[in-house]
Amino acid sequence: MTAAKAPKRDRKPAAKKRRDPDLAPAAGGTRDEYGIFDFGYVGDAGATAHYADPNYYSSTYQNRRHDVAYYVQKARASRGPVLEYGVGNGRVALHIARAGIELEGVDLSPAMLADFEERLSQEPAQVRARVRLHQGDMRSVRLDRRFPLVIAPFNALLHLYDRRDMEAFLSCVREHLTPDGRFLFDFSLPQPADLARDPARRYPAPPLKHPETGETVRYAEAFEYDPLRQLLLVRIELEPEAESPAYSVPLTHRQYFPREMEALLHYNGFGEILYTADFTDQAADKSVDSIVVSCRLSAATG
Ligand SMILES: C[S@@+](CC[C@H](N)C(=O)[O-])C[C@H]1O[C@@H](n2cnc3c(N)ncnc32)[C@H](O)[C@@H]1O
Repeated sequence: MTAAKAPKRDRKPAAKKRRDPDLAPAAGGTRDEYGIFDFGYVGDAGATAHYADPNYYSSTYQNRRHDVAYYVQKARASRGPVLEYGVGNGRVALHIARAGIELEGVDLSPAMLADFEERLSQEPAQVRARVRLHQGDMRSVRLDRRFPLVIAPFNALLHLYDRRDMEAFLSCVREHLTPDGRFLFDFSLPQPADLARDPARRYPAPPLKHPETGETVRYAEAFEYDPLRQLLLVRIELEPEAESPAYSVPLTHRQYFPREMEALLHYNGFGEILYTADFTDQAADKSVDSIVVSCRLSAATG
């Protein structure tokens, strides 16, 4: 794995507002003990806490398969190589490599990448040889290579909290696409019910079995929507039934509305923007949960 370095001009000055782990609130903001129910808190780049435990991530999303099959099919059709932003611990990428397609992956989380390396080490040599991983920020990493398919599966773009984040990221995508290449990603539609939830309530979900300790862990979520920044602040509360102490994990997701996403793509050099529904290639309608977006460099850009 290489630690990809951003050229100087792309590096942002240290973003003090987003400093994790202490979840510092913006000046004048108030916060609870976790710093999350604070309209001044924006969310740290990479949502580091949420991705600190790859085993937990894998067990939580082990049944999410439909998107994997979809991205593998698109990767095959492109013939590769594929660039995946927010590659994580390879939930999608490993299947693309197993399908015979070369892939480069970028992720900010050392824990997720280390887990991916570990999973790769158990694969046959030819699969391992198809994957190259880079630790770095998808808003700044430059790989000096162009790809016919660039992907960002499973809400990776919801970690881009404001317009500058998105523009920096889209500029990277532009630099990595071949002239006729496609950029393919998905994002969950904002759900009015989630945005309207009472921040004082805890919403319980079925208990989990911790992948390492085997303990049963009670699980609840609390939500607060910041309508000005369009940020959904989620606090995942985990309470092991045995002796381990309770803990909580903050997660911030930017809520992108479809027309807004279209405008961002359009004004940042992308055209032929096509929305489909839930990894089906069907047109998106009112019942859609995840919108899949396919686009390419607009004629003026390419
Ligand atoms: C929901 S996970 C998706 C992982 C993988 N693509 C999948 O489908 O399972 C989002 C990933 O994006 C990464 N990420 C978030 N912000 C990032 C950033 N600014 N630069 C690079 N990676 C980032 C996280 O570390 C995490 O691994």
